[in-house]
Amino acid sequence: MASITYDKATRRYAGSERPAVDALDLEIADGEFLVLVGPSGCGKSTSLRMLAGLEDIDDGAVWIGDRDVTQLPPRSRDIAMVFQNYALYPHMTVAQNMGFALKIAGRPASEIKQKVLEAAKLLDIEQYLDRKPKALSGGQRQRVAMGRAIVREPQVFLMDEPLSNLDAKLRVSTRTQIAALQRRLGVTTVYVTHDQVEAMTMGDRVAVLSDGLLQQCDTPRALYDRPANAFVAGFIGSPAMNLVTAKLTADGAELGGGSVRLTREVIQAADGDTVTLGFRPESLEVTTEGPDSVPIKVDLVEELGSDAYVYGKLAETDAEGTKSNIVARVDPRTPPAMGDTVHLRIRPDELHVFSATSGARLP
Ligand SMILES: Nc1ncnc2c1ncn2[C@@H]1O[C@H](COP(=O)(O)OP(=O)(O)OP(=O)(O)O)[C@@H](O)[C@H]1O
Ligand SMILES: [Mg+2]
Repeated sequence: MASITYDKATRRYAGSERPAVDALDLEIADGEFLVLVGPSGCGKSTSLRMLAGLEDIDDGAVWIGDRDVTQLPPRSRDIAMVFQNYALYPHMTVAQNMGFALKIAGRPASEIKQKVLEAAKLLDIEQYLDRKPKALSGGQRQRVAMGRAIVREPQVFLMDEPLSNLDAKLRVSTRTQIAALQRRLGVTTVYVTHDQVEAMTMGDRVAVLSDGLLQQCDTPRALYDRPANAFVAGFIGSPAMNLVTAKLTADGAELGGGSVRLTREVIQAADGDTVTLGFRPESLEVTTEGPDSVPIKVDLVEELGSDAYVYGKLAETDAEGTKSNIVARVDPRTPPAMGDTVHLRIRPDELHVFSATSGARLP
């Protein structure tokens, strides 16, 4: 087992101006489950492939444990990778697929058999060892791909969207199994996904990337409660956090015909006369008209049983001259109707304020 360090690791593809991964600094502890998350094209797979040795590192370095592996070929890095398209060999049985890497490494048949059996037990696929992959379900094939990585007993597991071929329900159960298995094995794992729910439920810590730049790396709770900037604020959480550009006043900011109070510290830290206000759908409560309430015109009510979400627009334009869309979670037993105007209040201490220019969180 081993820790992992990205030290200003940079990857520039020929022909593109901006690096696909730009001076990535990240330390992953021994045994940790770290998730890399971000929108398509942000550099998740490239970061993972740099660690695997499948991609050159143009600047900076990557360490596994106390070894600088920047120049080492993939086979010398002691890692096992599970891809989205796990490509099992169709002509081999499950057992042969799982033991293949050990066979290539020239290990004795008895040892291979024992390791494959152990991994199969762990993954609950013992009864399929003699089958060919085509006779398995998607979820079972996924577990065989995991088994293939486990039998190698690597220092590090790398997984790139391993669940994206599975249907929604199977994804949920398989992600729980993978997270539990990783904790049992204690092998340092870097897991790539574009799905923020997957990231939040699986990771000890989650690293959010955008445009090749690391935005924030923290525990799921901390990312949710204290996003470092407006990008992370909008990316983590579903439905997404409301983000509205608001004009500063002497003691707060204007918000759609109402106002919110801000501390002097925040107002002083703002650059310019506007800020970006962020508040999650569950940070809003329905109230009566008043000085700190914000009127919203209801466009749509989404009733999910346990929750109801109101989608609407601010009644007045914001600092950018648009009527921002707002999502609010409301009591599912007494939802408002389409076309209603509701007055919402942001719960104290649940307001996030970001610089309108840089997006950085204000103190
Ligand atoms: N071989 C390549 N040559 C040139 N550019 C590449 C190459 N591979 C990736 N890129 C570019 O580098 C950027 C990052 O790609 P990467 O595959 O790491 O994104 P990703 O975050 O994994 O996205 P996705 O969620 O879609 O898989 C993208 O802009 C992509 O177009
Ligand atoms: Mg990718």
